[in-house]
Amino acid sequence: MTGTHNAPETLDTALHGVDRLHITVTPGLAEVGPELVRRAVAAGVRRLTVLWGGWVGPVEQAVADSGVEWTRLEAQEFMSNTLTWADSIRAEGVVREPYDLPSALVHEADIGAVAAVALLDDGHAGQAYNLTGPESLTPSERLAILSRALGRDLTFERITHEQAIDRLTATGVSQADAEYVVGWYAESNDSSRTVDDTVPRIIGRPARTFTQWTTEHANRF
Ligand SMILES: NC(=O)c1ccc[n+]([C@@H]2O[C@H](COP(=O)([O-])OP(=O)(O)OC[C@H]3O[C@@H](n4cnc5c(N)ncnc54)[C@H](OP(=O)(O)O)[C@@H]3O)[C@@H](O)[C@H]2O)c1
Repeated sequence: MTGTHNAPETLDTALHGVDRLHITVTPGLAEVGPELVRRAVAAGVRRLTVLWGGWVGPVEQAVADSGVEWTRLEAQEFMSNTLTWADSIRAEGVVREPYDLPSALVHEADIGAVAAVALLDDGHAGQAYNLTGPESLTPSERLAILSRALGRDLTFERITHEQAIDRLTATGVSQADAEYVVGWYAESNDSSRTVDDTVPRIIGRPARTFTQWTTEHANRF
């Protein structure tokens, strides 16, 4: 059975008999996501989790308006964004970023763990959960943790805001998306840098650390 959430009609068969569903808001979902929610509810889904795209957009709103139980996972920065450093670390032992501001990065597995609890257990309907990791780290602090884990000297270099945008557009990201992403890093806000206890409160154990993430992904660097 194949299908993609970007074409909701391809999931009708897969939705047969499903009563709980997780939706990750990917860039391609903004236009068709509300239709996906409508079809899921029509197929019998009674509980939804949605991993937001960084704000409450059309998909997140459609979930909130769906008439069934929903939980919104408002994850802050993923630890996995560190994988964007892999090529330059492997090639040069260097990471280049325009900003060095703190971010309470969350481990992706903890987002999944919260989604599983919200889908399987009662008491999470109508909640918007701010998901962070257990510590707030700047990129250079993350690099120091990586450096220790890899046993290699790694260097942090600053580039300009414009260079960071150009680097992203060179990989095929649209100008608007590149400006949004780099702008997000430029304006580290309270929610993104402040450690929140929602993850441990929901999953019943400490949030995974960046040191743990680094150990799990050391072979990528
Ligand atoms: N990264 C963050 O810090 C962050 C923070 C908050 C929220 N989010 C949200 O979380 C989402 C995932 O973030 P990410 O950083 O992991 O993004 P990502 O690196 O772009 O990865 C997105 C993943 O989703 C897959 N995908 C996209 N469209 C799909 C489809 N129609 N069917 C099946 N798979 C599909 C992609 O597969 P391919 O590789 O095959 O394209 C890719 O593996 C983002 O869309 C963003 O809205 C991210």
